[in-house]
Amino acid sequence: TKKGLQLPEDFLWGGAIAAHQAEGYWDADGKGVSIADVLTAGSHEVPREITDGVIAGKNYPNHHGIYFYKTYKEDLAMMAEMGFKAFRTSIAWTRIFPNGDEDQPNEDGLAFYDEMFDTMLELGIEPVITLQHFEMPYHLVTEYGGWTNRKVIDFFENYTRVVFERYKDKVKYWITHNEISNQANQTEVSGLSDFLIWTNSGLKFAAGTTIEARQAAMYQAAHNELVASARAVRIGHEINPDFKIGAMLNVATMYPATTKPADQLAVQKARQQRDWFSDVHIRGAYPNELEKLFERTGWRSDVTDQDFIDLAAGKVDYLSISYYASSVIRAKDDDDSELDAATRWEALPNDQIKASDWGWAIDPQGLRYALNELNDLYPGLPIMIVENGFGAYDELIEKNGVKTVNDDYRMAYLGEHIAEVEKAVVNDGIPVIGYLSWAPIDIVSAGTGEMKKRYGYIYVDLDDFGEGTAKRYKKASFNWYQQVIASRGVDL
Ligand code: BG6
Repeated sequence: TKKGLQLPEDFLWGGAIAAHQAEGYWDADGKGVSIADVLTAGSHEVPREITDGVIAGKNYPNHHGIYFYKTYKEDLAMMAEMGFKAFRTSIAWTRIFPNGDEDQPNEDGLAFYDEMFDTMLELGIEPVITLQHFEMPYHLVTEYGGWTNRKVIDFFENYTRVVFERYKDKVKYWITHNEISNQANQTEVSGLSDFLIWTNSGLKFAAGTTIEARQAAMYQAAHNELVASARAVRIGHEINPDFKIGAMLNVATMYPATTKPADQLAVQKARQQRDWFSDVHIRGAYPNELEKLFERTGWRSDVTDQDFIDLAAGKVDYLSISYYASSVIRAKDDDDSELDAATRWEALPNDQIKASDWGWAIDPQGLRYALNELNDLYPGLPIMIVENGFGAYDELIEKNGVKTVNDDYRMAYLGEHIAEVEKAVVNDGIPVIGYLSWAPIDIVSAGTGEMKKRYGYIYVDLDDFGEGTAKRYKKASFNWYQQVIASRGVDL
């Protein structure tokens, strides 16, 4: 047990999951098909396939998740046992509006989340709720073309209005779009970039679509999402002025591959390519380099004057982030890197640090760096860490007749990251208001669709094919995290 610095009494300790990775029961009680329901299982090597509709005989892991739809009461009781102050999950849009374009919501879906939020509140756990976490109604993709269509802004508005009204006395912390910046990396056309633009925006490009066409679609979709988010912030505050509505970005600290000036500039451009989303969310306007990019390229062409009024009027209350890994950036040539041609740089492995079995660079200090950098950019803005965790292969063993996992590697990863958060708060004075680890219970991996990429303090007996008892077992990290929370971060 290492000694850490103590965090404030009201610090929000807890964990985070998402509906589509956990709930299962993908077609129960009137739920519609979501974009996560047409993703097959993949692996570190093989990207998940996006099928045209649900095809019989394919392996769709999100259809079963970990059956959280039926087990959340017992699962949340285990979170409470660990001492959780907060728990993040998402609302499946398709439980509320199965197709997305209906006038009236599905009462069964609304009632389900009523009970779930009541359960959290009874356990003394503050809900942190994401409105769109990698899922939207599949119907909005097939009939409207996903987020590039401005009509989706209105559909999202209907959805947010309904859930804000319904849960206004139960949920205070909201997040609009999960990891909205992921899609920025779709310039390097690959299986992963196809996945990211699908999960963010419901866009699937035909083979051979040019990078320019992809970029134009991505910037348009992201613009529409940002307008939708800004409207949600304004409407939410009208419904309940105490709401705290946040943006959500994946943050990955970047290092230049060498001391060459071109590499440093490439890092800066690679960052700007991802960070402008938070500028719009937080400052209510696009940064200069983006406006210049649009002047040059004509991307993000479908905008109205009202959009910019909406953006300025819907600034978020806080920033939430996920942090897993850092990266190294190298300029491909000595020419200036420009946002138009994001292919002028590439990411490399970092030979100074180790990586996970899925190639994610383990970099606790990078988290402290990122928190400082965000506070330099947005001084004083509260930051909530809503994802940080270690995906690893776990082996279920039997110890004194009880099944468990010796996950020292996970405790090491989490402890080292929490220690850096503590330095950022206690020594650097950064207003970090919570730490929600990903994912306190094993769930289906978003990126690969695997069950065997596990993050939990709680082991779930299911394999990549959905086989197993689905029973829950406490790993060694369960008692460890309980102690971390009880000591407010002193016992790591
Ligand atoms: C984030 C997502 O990208 O990372 C989560 O918000 C996801 O949904 C998490 O599960 C970890 O990624 P993966 O691919 O290991 O599940």
